[in-house]
Amino acid sequence: MTNEPVLVIGGTGKTGRRVVAGLQERGVAVRVASRSSEQRFDWLDESTWEAALEGVGAVYAVPLEGVPVPRSFTELAVKSGVGRIVLLSARGVDVPGYYGDGETAEAAEEAGVASHLEGERAVRASGLEWTVLRPGWFAQNFSEGLFLDPLLAGELRLPTADAAASFVDLDDVAAVAVAALTEDGHTGQVYEMSGPRAVTLETAVAEIAEATGRRIRFVPVTVDRFTAELRQDGLPAEDAELWAAALNPIRRGLEAKISDGVRRALGRDPRDFAEFVSAAATAGAWRG
Ligand SMILES: NC(=O)c1ccc[n+]([C@@H]2O[C@H](COP(=O)([O-])OP(=O)(O)OC[C@H]3O[C@@H](n4cnc5c(N)ncnc54)[C@H](OP(=O)(O)O)[C@@H]3O)[C@@H](O)[C@H]2O)c1
Repeated sequence: MTNEPVLVIGGTGKTGRRVVAGLQERGVAVRVASRSSEQRFDWLDESTWEAALEGVGAVYAVPLEGVPVPRSFTELAVKSGVGRIVLLSARGVDVPGYYGDGETAEAAEEAGVASHLEGERAVRASGLEWTVLRPGWFAQNFSEGLFLDPLLAGELRLPTADAAASFVDLDDVAAVAVAALTEDGHTGQVYEMSGPRAVTLETAVAEIAEATGRRIRFVPVTVDRFTAELRQDGLPAEDAELWAAALNPIRRGLEAKISDGVRRALGRDPRDFAEFVSAAATAGAWRG
């Protein structure tokens, strides 16, 4: 059975782009799929799935936030002759209350945890060879994600107090995905991943300031203030709440944990936050 071509759903996004590049470096045929790709694929439009899956050997799946990968998708994948699937999930989804605020249970739902778990269940029950990736907070949130604009404006304001997080580099997450898609030995594995060192948000921002020469600082704020400021910036209330819930594990110290998924999958240590900063600075991530 061949795993080619590999369908990369979300192949234009932060992890997907890197998975596509990693596969192409290995000479593996790739089909990029998303709403805006030549191969159109929409999680919310089942009529786009069959053509995307036709002739595909393996799938890398980035689920839509809050929407589980449905069994109807994995069933269609099996029917289409797909042999293998690698699913992007998130660290902590298996820990009750991980995304909660420590007091109420509902926040876990808001952070999309339930949907990640449901998607994992669909993949595990599919009969496909499966691998689940559970990365912690991405280092690239600073260079491509939610933290970028505030950093370019000079101030990152988060409800994380003086907590630290072991940010994982997406080049490592993608390398694990590529290994799982193309090599033996990763079937049935759940890879929980982090970087090798927990850094406080203040240290992280200071390292970026030093590498770029920019005057930027970290300012801890309350959860209420954080969500109010996101809404002032034009984010829908629901999204602001979701980000606040996603930051709960950092604030509560849970994201300082070091996970061994990169070492287990690749036989080497993950990249340090300092390496991420240096590479992103060289690539001009904070030139703004
Ligand atoms: N940020 C973190 O620190 C963190 C940590 C752990 C886990 N995660 C998880 O990582 C996932 C996000 O991954 P990412 O950062 O690689 O993605 P991303 O950069 O947010 O990109 C999303 C990708 O999905 C595509 N997409 C959006 N809506 C779609 C739809 N309806 N149907 C099909 N494709 C769609 C986008 O392309 P189009 O717009 O062209 O469709 C794009 O390729 C989330 O599930 C999140 O829970 C994030």
